[in-house]
Amino acid sequence: MVHAAELIRRKRDGGKIPAGELSELILEYARGNVPDYQLAAFCMAVYFRGLDGAETFALTDAMIQSGETIDLHSALGRTVVDKHSTGGVGDKTSLAVGPIVAACGVPFGKMSGRGLGHTGGTLDKLESIPGFRVELSTGEFIEQVRDVGLAIIGQSANLVPADKLLYGLRDVTATVDNVSLIAASIMSKKIAAGADAIVLDVKVGDGAFMKTIEDARELAELMRELGRHAGRKVACLLTDMDQPLGYAVGNALEIRETIATLRGQGEPDFTELVLSAAAHLLAFSDLGIDQAAGRERAVTAVQDGSALAMYERWIAAQGGDAAEGALPSAAVVREVQAPQAGYVGAIGAVDIGLAALRLGAGRRTKADHIDHSVGVVCHKKRGDAVDAREALAQVHARDDESAARAAEEVLAAYTFADAAPASPPIVLETIG
Ligand code: URA
Repeated sequence: MVHAAELIRRKRDGGKIPAGELSELILEYARGNVPDYQLAAFCMAVYFRGLDGAETFALTDAMIQSGETIDLHSALGRTVVDKHSTGGVGDKTSLAVGPIVAACGVPFGKMSGRGLGHTGGTLDKLESIPGFRVELSTGEFIEQVRDVGLAIIGQSANLVPADKLLYGLRDVTATVDNVSLIAASIMSKKIAAGADAIVLDVKVGDGAFMKTIEDARELAELMRELGRHAGRKVACLLTDMDQPLGYAVGNALEIRETIATLRGQGEPDFTELVLSAAAHLLAFSDLGIDQAAGRERAVTAVQDGSALAMYERWIAAQGGDAAEGALPSAAVVREVQAPQAGYVGAIGAVDIGLAALRLGAGRRTKADHIDHSVGVVCHKKRGDAVDAREALAQVHARDDESAARAAEEVLAAYTFADAAPASPPIVLETIG
């Protein structure tokens, strides 16, 4: 039987935990044989002392072993690809990348999560589509990736149950933001979900877990190593989250933006990120092409309408109504005007995320109910010129009172400058 108190003491004092003992601790915790308070103390010891490479590999392996694993490669006899983001504001990238990659003939299978706090979740966005089912059985998931070429579903309860427990515990014990714990949490789920090749979008900046490029690089390199250790191809894009991604923040609004992007009418930075991620995935696929050819095929899939046709096929396969007109609309739409002429110097990503959250687009606790119709559309982004009283943004709200409050919050999130500020590219750095 694992001696949890002894492992906590050893980690507290800066010692190393051998793989076998770490694995036993995690598996016994997942079986209910180690109480929350001991794992909480262990996570806090890890938070201060860290885990080395071998310990992080052992933690990831143990989390994977705590539940079922899916082998998409054997099931399809093809290279299957996946994409994951560490979470940001207005991040609907997977919803556009999936249809583009699948339209190019490469199977895309993704298990996704819900949003909490100022970042939205892919499942919540998809649930703004009437009829869309996020809960498929593992068998249905595999069948849809094989038959349609694309499925995005909620994570099955049997997949990495240790992470579900551990993440809940970390969330309430201030132990989320440790690079080893984050890397093991994300990569255990990606590896167990079965794709051969994964593009990881590691967000950097105000609206992200990782506030600096150095921290983002460390997380990216560690996740890449964990993936390679499990025989997966992994590329990491370190991307700017100092302002919301694209125009829209809020569930149905982000689905509308996804559709516009698949029509070739996307915001330039968002389009660039989507094409970059798609190019990496196509280069990892069994098509035998490089990134430049992958990008060309991704651009063509948007231009010739095949990416949008794939989106419609995918949504219908999961029971949804793909028509844009079927999406819910907010009762009140209010414009936010620029108070002066000049340039947009910055837009606080967290502030916009929180304004959307308070409108009802997100949840503060897991039990909160989401209003899929509400959110914020930022028409003007960093570096854009504005005239006095020109529309900066739109607030979509359920009533006048929440619209007025959100309009003030959105205006406060904008700062103005006399000249256009230097803007970094959306993809700051690529690893792998
Ligand atoms: N996302 C995860 O899935 N796990 C973490 O620990 C942090 C972000």
